[in-house]
Amino acid sequence: MAAPNIETIVSLAKRRGFVFPSSDIYGGLGSAWDYGSLGTELCNNVKQEWWRWMVHERDDMEGIDSSIILNRQVWKYSGHEETFSDPLVDCRECNSRFRYDKLLDEHPPVSAALHSLMRPPDVIRDFPCPNCGKSNWTEPRDFNLMFRTTLGAAAEEDDPTALAYLRPETAQGIFINFLNIQTTMRRKLPFGIAQIGKSFRNEVTPGNFIFRTREFEQMEMEYFVKPGEDERVHQEWIDLCFDWYKSLGLSADNLRLYEQPVKELAHYAKRTVDIHYRFFPERAEDERQWDELMGIANRTDFDLRAHSKKPEDAEGKRLNPDSTEDLSYFDEATKERFYPFVIEPAAGVNRSVLAFLMDAYTERTTDKNETRVVLKLHSSLAPIKAAVLPLAKNKPEIVHLAKSIKCSLQPSLRAVYDDTGGIGKLYARQDEIGTPFCVTVDHQSLEDEAVTVRDRDTWEQERVKVADLREHLQKRLNEK
Ligand code: GAP
Repeated sequence: MAAPNIETIVSLAKRRGFVFPSSDIYGGLGSAWDYGSLGTELCNNVKQEWWRWMVHERDDMEGIDSSIILNRQVWKYSGHEETFSDPLVDCRECNSRFRYDKLLDEHPPVSAALHSLMRPPDVIRDFPCPNCGKSNWTEPRDFNLMFRTTLGAAAEEDDPTALAYLRPETAQGIFINFLNIQTTMRRKLPFGIAQIGKSFRNEVTPGNFIFRTREFEQMEMEYFVKPGEDERVHQEWIDLCFDWYKSLGLSADNLRLYEQPVKELAHYAKRTVDIHYRFFPERAEDERQWDELMGIANRTDFDLRAHSKKPEDAEGKRLNPDSTEDLSYFDEATKERFYPFVIEPAAGVNRSVLAFLMDAYTERTTDKNETRVVLKLHSSLAPIKAAVLPLAKNKPEIVHLAKSIKCSLQPSLRAVYDDTGGIGKLYARQDEIGTPFCVTVDHQSLEDEAVTVRDRDTWEQERVKVADLREHLQKRLNEK
């Protein structure tokens, strides 16, 4: 079947309680979303899988949970105050605002050489406004994406000493704690520090459901290595991250690696490779069907050097009189002191959730020619692992047995009990939310102490003894 587009997923997500438009009863808040019961479980499962894979299963990793609001100097020396901005233009006719670089993407130049000689306002002079169709643009100007706030009750809005930002990436909280973690956990290079948490960006053009929002969650890891080992380790992390997404069910056909051209690189990066997902399959054969799922950057020693008290910089450019620490590393073996290089796999929780939902979406036709949605989520991501369903809800013995089976499964796997419809409807509901197994309790169960286990993906059924059920389900979940 054709891949679903984002609209299909928006509709499923709302109908089945994964994601709702935020503040809906007050007319919503552009591109803000609330995660419902199933969406929360799905997000938690994605984060849990990432943490297990990134931190618990490795010997060279530590975790951290740093503040969202940091000292403003962090964003000064990281370069975000100066460079974390998008170029904006306004349409003078309808006052709509657009990203200048996105307008350029929509109108590939007839002659790149000619464009490079023109002033930015002249390049877009004849572009029609996507909103009103007229061509009357302002000069492009930079708009910083960091959310500003003021600290303390007495702070005035424009008091620069009270100005603070909501973090636009979790990474900086890791860099400023590099020494704390390295010394308290007695780490030697190479090692990494991982963090999951919210980030905030005042995006000019949020949209496409949970793909681009102003508040989102990141899963980031900074891996510290000796200079000179960075290129090899970078490539290793690119391959590991690509395989992680595949191991959780994303089809290789919907994934690709994208080497960022030099002109796209962030100010700190030596090389960045993005993992792209086919988020927009309806733009078939078009480069724009792909977009970023995560990025894996070689950040060099930029950040540790930038945050260090008086770093050794031959040109004196990144001299930092505000920091009290030197974040360099002393190698006991070689007796050398240096700033480690950093490899950074940075993923979005929300974009990952969107990709997992899109990839899992399938439709299947029943014997009665009805179309059913079957969400073939990887078993470790599925919000509910097993649904226990009584075949006759007016028979107390069956209901009692079903409820006690649900309770017995609960400590080891997420199970629910549901008797709010006929069995066909209950199966359809669980298929649509990606529950790998349904367990049906019927009249015969009272006699043979067995239940029917139905597989979401094949719709095949098998009879399993109640006494063996937990082990059986756990084994089958591990295989899925
Ligand atoms: N520390 C590096 C960094 O933040 P990034 O490419 O800007 O790199 C990493 O962000 C990931 O965070 C992206 O690949 C994407 O998955 C997610 N992300 C970034 N901005 C986002 C937004 N506005 N909405 C949702 N996810 C976003």
